[in-house]
Amino acid sequence: MAAEKQVDTTGLLGWIDRRFPLTQLWKEHASEYYAPKNFNFWYFFGSLAMLVLVIQIVTGIFLVMNYKPDASLAFASVEYIMREVPWGWLIRYMHSTGASMFFVVVYLHMFRGLLYGSYRKPRELVWVFGCLIFLSLMAEAFFGYLLPWGQMSYWGAQVIVNLFSAIPFIGPDLSLWIRGDYVVSDATLNRFFAFHVIAIPLVLIGLIVAHIMALHEVGSNNPDGVEIKATKDANGKPLDGIPFHPYYTVHDIMGVGVFLLVFSTIVFFAPTVGGYFLEANNFIPADSLKTPPHIAPVWYFTPFYSMLRATTDDFKHVLMGLAVLITAVWWVKGKAAATTKVAGSGAVVLLLLAMWLTEAKFWGVVVMGGAVVTLFFLPWLDQSPVKSIRYRPGFHKTLLGILVVIFAVLGYLGIQEPTPVKTAMSQVGALYYFGFFWLMPIWSKRGTFKPVPDRVTFHAH
Ligand code: HEM
Repeated sequence: MAAEKQVDTTGLLGWIDRRFPLTQLWKEHASEYYAPKNFNFWYFFGSLAMLVLVIQIVTGIFLVMNYKPDASLAFASVEYIMREVPWGWLIRYMHSTGASMFFVVVYLHMFRGLLYGSYRKPRELVWVFGCLIFLSLMAEAFFGYLLPWGQMSYWGAQVIVNLFSAIPFIGPDLSLWIRGDYVVSDATLNRFFAFHVIAIPLVLIGLIVAHIMALHEVGSNNPDGVEIKATKDANGKPLDGIPFHPYYTVHDIMGVGVFLLVFSTIVFFAPTVGGYFLEANNFIPADSLKTPPHIAPVWYFTPFYSMLRATTDDFKHVLMGLAVLITAVWWVKGKAAATTKVAGSGAVVLLLLAMWLTEAKFWGVVVMGGAVVTLFFLPWLDQSPVKSIRYRPGFHKTLLGILVVIFAVLGYLGIQEPTPVKTAMSQVGALYYFGFFWLMPIWSKRGTFKPVPDRVTFHAH
């Protein structure tokens, strides 16, 4: 490999390189990693996600030095950190703000993937690792939220763990096993602490390494969705690529600067962000005898929480009707063999029977989980002949735009007290969300596509 031949053999670096591939790693992942020269605003969020991860780990280590994972001490130990520990308030607000900002950054990072088709061949595994990261991040946030042992920590955990009890047969035992007690208690706090401070962070770091390794194996996509490796110079370097270091390291420092301005403004001037980053109820110690009148998860979970609440008995019947309709269309129009159709319809009948016999709450859990699991299939659902939104028909842009609006509305509805109208809106939103992804094999091929250029489009500033 070219990188190995150029290794410095003198001095300390030479000594290290003969024992560990330091220079080689640096070249492969930075100074000789060729990234497309047309990265734009949306490409800041991968490096920002790494920055937030570092912030969370460093502030987390300092929090653990004073935090007590004990149901009778936890709340007071957080107050102690806020009032007595030197700079404790800063560390704690950086960590709580970091949690929300992690999701802001990751949602924008995922949206970039949707915009430019970054999940398409050959980057399917980059995307799948990303989805696993997203799942782990949700678990990390959920476990962490119990630790301050406030009212919302306690009742939020109670509601979410109780959802598992809706699973037929094993549900009640499963939720008992997760809690380690009949209600959320000290045993639950101890195990959530273990998951939050060590188990999930280890998984997260491993997945992020895999995410970057998979990306660097195939190379980055870009806003044009053009493969830069297809056009190389005489030395085998992509003509439209520039070395990640120094070009993008410097470029990303600007993103880091702007991000830190926003981050510090929140930490210093509005750490609760009006109850969105830190809920008011969580400044009250957990009380197992007093259920807060309105329990809502933190904003980053609420789009999915809305879909859970949307799954009422009526909605379950709508879903059953849809299953019948889709099967009927498949019978009439589908090209599958008769035996396949009979087997498929038999499976649908079994599904309908299961839906009829089980409560809507269980299907709510399926819908909520299904909304995240759906994302894993995106590389194979999207059949568009082009990757980037730039060269797709106008109606693709409209559909994606509506998805963004619906996702935000679902997020808003998840924070509100449910009313019949709001529940109906969540139901429409949930149907759109699933329709957008699962009907992609049909709509993503349609319309008039613009011709994709051979080379990336780039205008020097
Ligand atoms: C802790 C969370 C994450 C970190 C630290 C992270 C880090 C990164 C970095 C550094 C890059 C390269 C720079 C860039 O393209 O912005 C990248 C690319 C990418 N990430 Fe992530 N990521 C995270 C989560 C996710 C998630 C949740 C998804 C999707 C479900 C995802 C999907 C992608 C894709 C598809 C690319 C390739 C983009 C392209 O080449 O156009 N990532 N990630």
